[in-house]
Amino acid sequence: MEEIRRPDDMVRISTPEQADAFIAEQVKLIQEQVGDKKVLLALSGGVDSSVVAALLIKAIGAQLTCVHVNHGLLRKGEPEQVIEVFRNQMKANLVYVDATDRFLDKLAGVTDPETKRKIIGGEFIEVFAEEARKLDGIEFLAQGTIWPDILESEKGIKAHHNAGGLPEDMNFELVEPVKILFKDEVRVVGKQLGLPDNMVFRQPFPGPGLGVRCPGAITRDRLEAVRESDAILREEFEKNGLAGKVWQYFTVVPDFKSTGIRDGKRTFEWAVIIRAVNTKDAMSATVENIPFELMSHLVERITSEVPGVNRVLYDFTPKPSGTIEFE
Ligand code: XMP
Repeated sequence: MEEIRRPDDMVRISTPEQADAFIAEQVKLIQEQVGDKKVLLALSGGVDSSVVAALLIKAIGAQLTCVHVNHGLLRKGEPEQVIEVFRNQMKANLVYVDATDRFLDKLAGVTDPETKRKIIGGEFIEVFAEEARKLDGIEFLAQGTIWPDILESEKGIKAHHNAGGLPEDMNFELVEPVKILFKDEVRVVGKQLGLPDNMVFRQPFPGPGLGVRCPGAITRDRLEAVRESDAILREEFEKNGLAGKVWQYFTVVPDFKSTGIRDGKRTFEWAVIIRAVNTKDAMSATVENIPFELMSHLVERITSEVPGVNRVLYDFTPKPSGTIEFE
């Protein structure tokens, strides 16, 4: 297929009308490309794959099958939202795979950050390929590739990992309907397709998920402490008007315990670290100034609601010297 590139003079999509025009054009192009054949999509619930799913549902409906792999490292409520939005509301064919045990068993005892990433990435492809083999007659693979992915892979900054890694015999033709769009344009299109705001305007979330926020060897109880404290932080940032303002915010629970006191008794429990940063391109980052009262409230909620936690710390480190994530 001839390679499609973003025209130099293409107007940046920023209005509902521009998004509608883009959607109409893509629906037609998808229908022409796919005909009456079947398409497969790995739906993570992130902005790009969600917008691709919504576009394809509009264009070809039941010819699309979405596979949502829950690797056990997603944020609280994420898999449930994918099922609600795509299966219940948009009536998509959605295969939901809870692969939590598979991932956590493989990750047990693994401390090296890059080995953890490799295991998560490799296992993801295996689970997805297994599901794909169960389906008959799939000829196309849809992907949420966006324009910066293409530019960065051309410049050699990062391997264009979409499509990469599937077994060689799985020879699908690609469908990449948002590949000429910048991220902000994908969001405008997603909103126009009726996706919920917390899906369309959400903060970046790494592929290895909460796995890189549970430093060292992941254990289920410490992972739960990351998930629960992250949910409290997100809830409080929403309530206090910081959710749309701060670029990325999350919690980390390192593998160390310290002494504390609760109900007159000694405790020996984990510390939750809060991270909240602003950046343009993630190459460098500054720390958000969280109001003292909100910080105190977060400490109160996290230490009383999250089992196994007796302390909350705030990471004041910009990038550099720290990276945004801890691993
Ligand atoms: P760092 O920690 O390198 O993060 O300052 C910069 C941005 O990249 C995200 N990040 C990742 N995203 N897979 C991803 O998809 C990864 O392995 C990964 N590591 C970091 C991070 O969340 C931040 O937005």
